[in-house]
Amino acid sequence: MELRAKNAIVTGAARGIGRAIALKLAEAGCNLALADLGSASDSALTYNLAAMADLNRTADEARKFGVKAVAIAADVTRFSDCERMAREAAAQLGGVDIVINNAGIIAVGPVANMPEETWDRVMAVNAKGPFLVSKACIPYLTRNREGAIVNIASVAGKTAHAALSAYCASKFAVVALTQALAEELGPANIRVNAVCPGYLRTAMWTDVLVKALAPLWGVPEGEAFDRFVERNTYLHREQTPEDIGEAVVYLCRADNVTGTTLNVAGGGEVH
Ligand SMILES: NC(=O)c1ccc[n+]([C@@H]2O[C@H](COP(=O)([O-])OP(=O)(O)OC[C@H]3O[C@@H](n4cnc5c(N)ncnc54)[C@H](O)[C@@H]3O)[C@@H](O)[C@H]2O)c1
Repeated sequence: MELRAKNAIVTGAARGIGRAIALKLAEAGCNLALADLGSASDSALTYNLAAMADLNRTADEARKFGVKAVAIAADVTRFSDCERMAREAAAQLGGVDIVINNAGIIAVGPVANMPEETWDRVMAVNAKGPFLVSKACIPYLTRNREGAIVNIASVAGKTAHAALSAYCASKFAVVALTQALAEELGPANIRVNAVCPGYLRTAMWTDVLVKALAPLWGVPEGEAFDRFVERNTYLHREQTPEDIGEAVVYLCRADNVTGTTLNVAGGGEVH
């Protein structure tokens, strides 16, 4: 699929991986509707999310590539927000050809101690969010002769680990949703794929995972990520948001690829 002048929605676009996906799509010529929560606080979490100013900054950077970019505050767990996002994107850009379900959150802790509210919120954002966003966008996607959905799952959606039950369960769900939706939307020539990122130095690691791992390993927080990556990847190196952006661009272009999950993990997951 030619990406120039196509219209794409990216959720969780204010920072991290979502921001890099947005900029790679802008570089490829896509107009963008960039969505994020619009508030840095989520009471179920131990860390801050992105603010509206971060989202506006992504939109400003995307416009430097000469494309349209609009910033939309939307919580992917609310269907009314998802419908408004799809409607505004279609109205302001002229249609919706591509949807990137990237918004996600993480919580760490054993099942025995995990508050029910935390489990529910992780599942609501990570698993139900891509369902609601896709549901809201399908009426627009299917007006065209071609289109693509890319879900940002995780290596945690292939192999689960202790203390990450909700996160892993939510990402397994994203992989399943990707396969089901690929079969459903194939006849409309809408391709549905997932990227499974490995280990990236974004807020999920710097604000959450290193705080859990460092005391377990008896190392300073500043060393925990590097040690993890060294031990758990064939290539002994971290992945970058730009790596994930390039994988997303590939999956948007690849006319005969659907229902797949592409690991971008330096060998940290090979199935
Ligand atoms: N960082 C990693 O190592 C890693 C690895 C595998 C997968 N991922 C996945 O990549 C995606 C992006 O994560 P990241 O690492 O960039 O983290 P991040 O916290 O920097 O970015 C997540 C973005 O999603 C937004 N968001 C959260 N809840 C939302 C909601 N309800 N509605 C709308 N937006 C919401 C946040 O404000 C933030 O901008 C997530 O789906 C994550 O699970 C990350």
